Amino acid sequence: MKKVLVVNSNPKPNEISFGLRLGEHYLASLQAAADVQIERVNLYEENIPLIDGSVLDGWGKAAAGETLSEQQLQTMGRMNEILEQFIAADVVIFITPMWNLSYPPLLKAYIDNVIIAGRTFKYTAEGPQGLLNGKKVVHIEARGGFYSEGPAQAMRFTDSYLSAVMAFIGITEYENVVVEGMNAVPDRAEALLEEAKQRAEASVKRMFAQV
Ligand SMILES: Cc1cc2nc3c(=O)[nH]c(=O)nc-3n(C[C@H](O)[C@H](O)[C@H](O)COP(=O)(O)O)c2cc1C
Repeated sequence: MKKVLVVNSNPKPNEISFGLRLGEHYLASLQAAADVQIERVNLYEENIPLIDGSVLDGWGKAAAGETLSEQQLQTMGRMNEILEQFIAADVVIFITPMWNLSYPPLLKAYIDNVIIAGRTFKYTAEGPQGLLNGKKVVHIEARGGFYSEGPAQAMRFTDSYLSAVMAFIGITEYENVVVEGMNAVPDRAEALLEEAKQRAEASVKRMFAQV
């Protein structure tokens, strides 16, 4: 049985979110195709620490063998929990809405909790090396406009960043399943979602044929 971690960075209820509706379809297809155990993290409902001055100071103190404050210990403990949960997953499914050519800030905060030297990557003489080989990542993304082709293609920062940062920690088996254009052509929004659901099913077949 494979462990699937679903990281939801959308504060909306499922029924009014295209990305979450696509995500649920992806999960249903995945459950029909493979033996999986699904765990969910809702970034807007959980404590996701930011790297702030206190965290940076705590990391410095830990490296120097100095005593951390009670609050630093608590924050580090929570960061470690997030990291361990991520490392334990075989598959991570990120569900994100596009906001201002990016994704919600809590997703960046989450990523900052899992890109940790010595745990998910290490420095070597040849440069940094990812340590999480063998995992899969699926990025389910909803975008109001069209970015897959046309002039806005150059602004697909969301996916290029997420795929790059996952590759940095060794996860190169990566797919982006997109529903887009719902704000550009609102009367086609539901049809666009249906088309995206077909792509989700094809992605499940490609990614999980042998799971
Ligand atoms: C704060 C905010 C910023 C947005 N910025 C963009 C944007 O830069 N480009 C875009 O195509 N759509 C943008 N949109 C539209 C959303 O991407 C679109 O509504 C999408 O369906 C959101 O995903 P969801 O339906 O899963 O919530 C934005 C929406 C919000 C609420």
